[in-house]
Amino acid sequence: MTTVEDALLTRRSCRAFLPTPVPRAEVERLLALAARSASNSNCQPWQVHVLTGAAKRALAEDLLRAHDAGRREAGEFDYQPCTDRWPEPFRSRRRGFGEGLYRDALGIPAGDSARRLEHHRRNYDFFGAPVGMILTVSRKPLLGALVDAGLFLQALMLAARGAGLHTCAQASLIDFHPVLRRHVSVPDDQVIVCGVALGLADDGHRLGAHRTAREPVSSFASFYGSEVGALT
Ligand SMILES: Cc1cc2nc3c(=O)[nH]c(=O)nc-3n(C[C@H](O)[C@H](O)[C@H](O)COP(=O)(O)O)c2cc1C
Repeated sequence: MTTVEDALLTRRSCRAFLPTPVPRAEVERLLALAARSASNSNCQPWQVHVLTGAAKRALAEDLLRAHDAGRREAGEFDYQPCTDRWPEPFRSRRRGFGEGLYRDALGIPAGDSARRLEHHRRNYDFFGAPVGMILTVSRKPLLGALVDAGLFLQALMLAARGAGLHTCAQASLIDFHPVLRRHVSVPDDQVIVCGVALGLADDGHRLGAHRTAREPVSSFASFYGSEVGALT
């Protein structure tokens, strides 16, 4: 039995999956669990498109073709505008994440943009996962729907851990949203939030040991009131 704490501590963005299929009933069970998430006034604005087998392969082929041809499009909304002008501390954290993944875990130095791109390209095959999902939400009201989508996404990732599976959220897919829209039926009143890869982790892959750091609670939490004393 996985505890919530175990699921939180063992969830990571998995970027190397085994091809072992995940039964459809299991994917449906995980989605039903994720749908228990809170949402503003219980509006449940999420939609999920699940691709496996030939459907996933066809999408991946088209995404890789579009990627290789440089047909990146402005996103439906911009996740990461002007990353080179991000304020601190986000800029340093982003750099630290990149160094941890590319230099330390994959052994690709900063100057080797060809090999870095080759790794990034694997997003478009869902890192080899047998299940590729596309998460969309209602365009109106967008901000609230995006908060709700985040809760759904986290719940899905934790539910996957409860089943011994791993996930990776993938905003990189929306760079090719016209391709996604050709493969799945997304109504005009929905925006594509991200992709999600789902499957069994390939623990033998060199990325299997890659973990990201977190800032301490004292860096982001402020406590007010004196009813409960500080732990010593
Ligand atoms: C909404 C969202 C989109 C993301 N998009 C990508 C992506 O396109 N490709 C990727 O490799 N990782 C992606 N990630 C994973 C983040 O890089 C990762 O969550 C972060 O570095 C923390 O690492 P961890 O998930 O292993 O704890 C995304 C995460 C989120 C929440």
